[in-house]
Amino acid sequence: MKNVLVVGGAGYIGSHAVKMLKEKGYNAVVYDNLSKGHRQAVRGMEFVKGDLGDKKKLAAVFKKYNIDAVMHFAAFIEVGESVKEPARYYNNNIVKVISLLDAMVENGVKYFVFSSTAATFGEPVEAKISERHPQNPINPYGQTKLMVEKVLKDYDKAYGLKSSVLRYFNAAGAEDGGKIGESHTPETHLLPIILQAASGKRDSIKIFGEDYPTKDGSCIRDFVHVNDLSSAHILALEKMFRTNESDDFNLGSGEGFSVKEVIECAKRVTGRPIKVEAAPRRAGDPAVLVADSAKAKKVLGWQTLYNLDKIIQTAWNWELKRKY
Ligand code: UFG
Repeated sequence: MKNVLVVGGAGYIGSHAVKMLKEKGYNAVVYDNLSKGHRQAVRGMEFVKGDLGDKKKLAAVFKKYNIDAVMHFAAFIEVGESVKEPARYYNNNIVKVISLLDAMVENGVKYFVFSSTAATFGEPVEAKISERHPQNPINPYGQTKLMVEKVLKDYDKAYGLKSSVLRYFNAAGAEDGGKIGESHTPETHLLPIILQAASGKRDSIKIFGEDYPTKDGSCIRDFVHVNDLSSAHILALEKMFRTNESDDFNLGSGEGFSVKEVIECAKRVTGRPIKVEAAPRRAGDPAVLVADSAKAKKVLGWQTLYNLDKIIQTAWNWELKRKY
């Protein structure tokens, strides 16, 4: 049985990956400082409270659990915040990650799955973004992720550290049982905010910009279910174990939906009215972001199992049942 350390495993995507790792027969150990993550999201798993930048603690954990691979989810993820507070982003998302990689190299842990992002591409110059699309991030968040991608290439060449870089588009949804799900404070993501407007926790949802060059004027995004993202992590890990090679994959459904379409779909799925308000554009938002995930499908055999309706159904189930 392989032992996988999941750094940030108490967070939104990390906790779903942990659940799937367990289901697929891996031994997952969660490592999280709980600054953003939730203790309740760690269910029946080894848990170590620790910071990403704590090399000594990481070294001890690598030894104690005989760790074969690391999945890294412990990043700051808000574009707007990264513009206002770049120092925090460069420190947490680059400096501390390099210290984690050094701890891996020093302790002979050879495999790394890295959560990267569509934000590394910046403004798209093609309709669908493949791995070959130029990477010109337009905000510090995207810069931090791209920088680590570059570090990983050099660490592979110099130290033989193998990595899978997974660039998510818009992660959404929750596991089917509704026991874990998305919970950020403050919440900035579109779907949870729409569903809080549906459940009455908020009065309305603001549409940030209705004058984009899109079919209805609102931004278009590619929503991908958190379980589909999790399955890609495991496929990428297995491919690395098999081939001992680094690789990168863009992960999305390949289909774009506008903010207004998502709201309409949420009205249908929840059966609730959702009040909308027009608002100015949000800084740093590209008009359209849609993935070309052909490579993940071909090379990893990855399939997405959740369409937008199902994504919203699972997120709604979580919104109604959530305990944290
Ligand atoms: N939006 C609204 N109203 C809201 C919240 C969001 O109109 O209250 C709009 C945004 O302007 C954007 C779309 O909904 O057009 C999606 O916004 P999110 O904040 O949900 O997601 P982003 O596309 O900004 O960000 C996601 C990830 C980031 C990652 C980025 C990559 O959450 O971590 O994709 O581009 F950086």
